[in-house]
Amino acid sequence: MEICIIGSGYVGLVSGACFAEVGHSVVCVDNDQRKIDMLLRGEIPIYEPGLEELVQRNVAAKRLRFTNSIEDGVDHSEIVFIAVPTPPQSDGSVDLTYIERVAREIAGVLKPGQYRVVVDKSTVPVKTGEKVDATIRRYNPSAEFDVVSNPEFLREGCAVPDLMRPDRIVVGSASNRATDLMKRLYEPFQSPILVTDVNSAELIKHAANSFLSLKISYINAVSAICEASGADIEMVADGIGMDRRIGRNFLNAGLGYGGSCFPKDVKAFIAIAEELGVPFHLLKEVERINASQLDRFLKKVRDALWVLRDKKIGVWGLTFKPDTDDVRNSVAIELVNKLAGEGAQVAVYDPKGMVKAVEYKLLHPSVRLAESPLDAALGAEALLLATEWKEFARQDFAGVKANMHTPLLFDGRNLLNPKIMREIGFDYHAVGRP
Ligand code: UGA
Repeated sequence: MEICIIGSGYVGLVSGACFAEVGHSVVCVDNDQRKIDMLLRGEIPIYEPGLEELVQRNVAAKRLRFTNSIEDGVDHSEIVFIAVPTPPQSDGSVDLTYIERVAREIAGVLKPGQYRVVVDKSTVPVKTGEKVDATIRRYNPSAEFDVVSNPEFLREGCAVPDLMRPDRIVVGSASNRATDLMKRLYEPFQSPILVTDVNSAELIKHAANSFLSLKISYINAVSAICEASGADIEMVADGIGMDRRIGRNFLNAGLGYGGSCFPKDVKAFIAIAEELGVPFHLLKEVERINASQLDRFLKKVRDALWVLRDKKIGVWGLTFKPDTDDVRNSVAIELVNKLAGEGAQVAVYDPKGMVKAVEYKLLHPSVRLAESPLDAALGAEALLLATEWKEFARQDFAGVKANMHTPLLFDGRNLLNPKIMREIGFDYHAVGRP
């Protein structure tokens, strides 16, 4: 099938590459000429395992191309995806400016007699589809189209496998013609397709991300009880998670959730519910617990070091999770900046996150970028692990300890084995475990 994706960010680019990989002919559109030029040169603006090869292979096979022209994209495609950013506004509600602009632009290029399925893949508040539909009709009363909601559930760091083998594909549609085209599009993915109305599909996305955030906050709240009682959160999570009704995924206690989705989507869902007149107090508690994880962690560091000013502290990790270079809303960055703000001399190392942290000027000016995990630990009075990159678990910890001033180790993601760390001689502290 011929499809077009407007917005070549995370979701747009990975979706485009995966649709091409299964044999569709895809044109990715973006109004950022710099990004289009990079993509045309075969350079990928984000780090995502497997994406570069996927893009290069499909460009070479002529199944994937890039343009800055919406007209070009819409003209050649029966299915037109909208995958533009929906950033948060200061009150937590979603800024739909880009969606509205794209809807108008699509209306401007739709030709008479040219049926198109306009699919919203961006994360949007419930009832946005109705507005997109009304906008296209207002600007082009004779246009023939249907609006479909098809939320995306990929995770950064494993976006390609998530997209190629999704647990489910949600298609919110009020038109049989559009639904049939969407089913044909997704046939090669061999995953269950759930067809709903448009509003329900939109709601599924916010409800799913908020539920996962709630699961994380739940286990984090239990981790505080573990700390107060001497129980071990890893054993408790295993014990809870073996119940198939609950499941072990997303029950990892730590510094809390971050990234460009959960914090924004929980806030948005609170705002959406508020606007609909049904306040969602539970989600406010989810946010409160999430913020308190970092506070409790910092308290442990302060309790051990007493005064942070002038203390040399090494930090491992900057990205909001492993296997990505994304540092947006990263708790690790917040941790580093709070330490530096209190006068500590922080040296940080991250396998992929340092470039963007510097490019976006996210770090306190006193923070030193280390060349390796060992370099970050050199002379440190405490070492803090903030992101669970596998590389960190593989370090020579006897060597790390030998190079530190004092062997204090705070594992904010429960990545390391407490018994082994203590045998090596670390004064080891984890989250929610003795
Ligand atoms: C999340 C969802 O998992 C995707 O399904 C969704 O498509 C995406 O948001 C989106 O809306 O675009 P993502 O933000 O890439 O994906 O990353 P996750 O793997 O979900 O992790 C989010 C945060 O939760 C990270 O900071 C991670 O460290 C934290 N987390 C995750 C925990 O603290 N504990 C866990 O057990 C799991």
